[in-house]
Amino acid sequence: MLILGIETSCDETAVALYDDDEGLIGHVLNTQISLHAPYGGVVPEIASRDHIRCLLPLIKRVMNEANAVKPDIIAYTAGPGLIGALMVGSALANSLALAWQCKVIPVHHMEGHLLAPMLEPKKPEYPFLALLVSGGHSLLVDVQGVGEYKLLGSTLDDAIGEAFDKVAKLLGLPYPGGPEIQKLSEQGNQEAFSFPRPMLKKPGYDFSFSGLKTAVMLAVKELEENGKINHKKADIAASFQKAAIDTLIGRTLKAARENNFDSIVVSGGVGANIMLRENLKESFEGKVFYPRFEFCTDNAAMIAVAGAYRASQAASASKIEARARWPLEDINYQ
Ligand code: KG4
Ligand code: ZN
Repeated sequence: MLILGIETSCDETAVALYDDDEGLIGHVLNTQISLHAPYGGVVPEIASRDHIRCLLPLIKRVMNEANAVKPDIIAYTAGPGLIGALMVGSALANSLALAWQCKVIPVHHMEGHLLAPMLEPKKPEYPFLALLVSGGHSLLVDVQGVGEYKLLGSTLDDAIGEAFDKVAKLLGLPYPGGPEIQKLSEQGNQEAFSFPRPMLKKPGYDFSFSGLKTAVMLAVKELEENGKINHKKADIAASFQKAAIDTLIGRTLKAARENNFDSIVVSGGVGANIMLRENLKESFEGKVFYPRFEFCTDNAAMIAVAGAYRASQAASASKIEARARWPLEDINYQ
């Protein structure tokens, strides 16, 4: 079965072809980063317009490169995300499905991230604990199988990727901030500032990053007033990164320990962070699975693979879906 995956939830237009026997056949992506960079964040109107410009040519390219005539299934991101951006993918997916007379499956973006490690040769086995960390989400999910998700924890305020982006902005670094903070941290001392590790001692598995962000903001303000900020940017970045990653790892290990998981999956844009990947692997006794770097951040291969897993159990969609907000547990099979 050939699955065409389409992702347009935010600032990447991405298309992939996946075969449930052969695996991934092709994937392409156009990033809008340079279009949004002057504004310091994603501008929804610009995102929608660029998805319209890029989506059809990318679909043609992937289909031509694979010598494919038509897919059996079109899987598209139906939410959560920017509503205008989602509607571009949704409308085109449904129009093509009508023209090609093929099945169409709306996919939850976070289920895509959750199943992205299934694109790798070494796949996790169920059950596992998923840490999904992106620009919009920080989730800990109990995963018993496809469509069997229980939310253990989420963020009470900012998502972790959002915190990376906001701290980067405070330091005058471009968007997206995560990779910039990671790069600058290499030259800094992670012990230079003692920033809080929020929620680590609290019961449950929720996250909160606004206190950490405020602590960084106050430190930056003081350094600016003293005229010392330029010498200390790398130390701020490194100390923030260490506090953020310690917090993620602390909560994840607690959830794994208290719920007896021996496998953890880490995915989403912040899952590309090298300190998170290395430190979690070192501190967890069980197995840790990550998608390769390019499939941590938004891509269509993860949407195609999620569509493939869903296809056997879900009927073709009866209406065009695009949902800005969409709790992950809404897509459970029971
Ligand atoms: O999953 P993603 O591509 O898009 C969303 O679904 O939000 O995640 C993007 C987020 C951004 O906040 C970006 O700064 C962050 O992932 N990110 C990173 C790294 N690479 C991307 N954060 C920390 N370290 C990284 N290496
Ligand atoms: Zn994402």
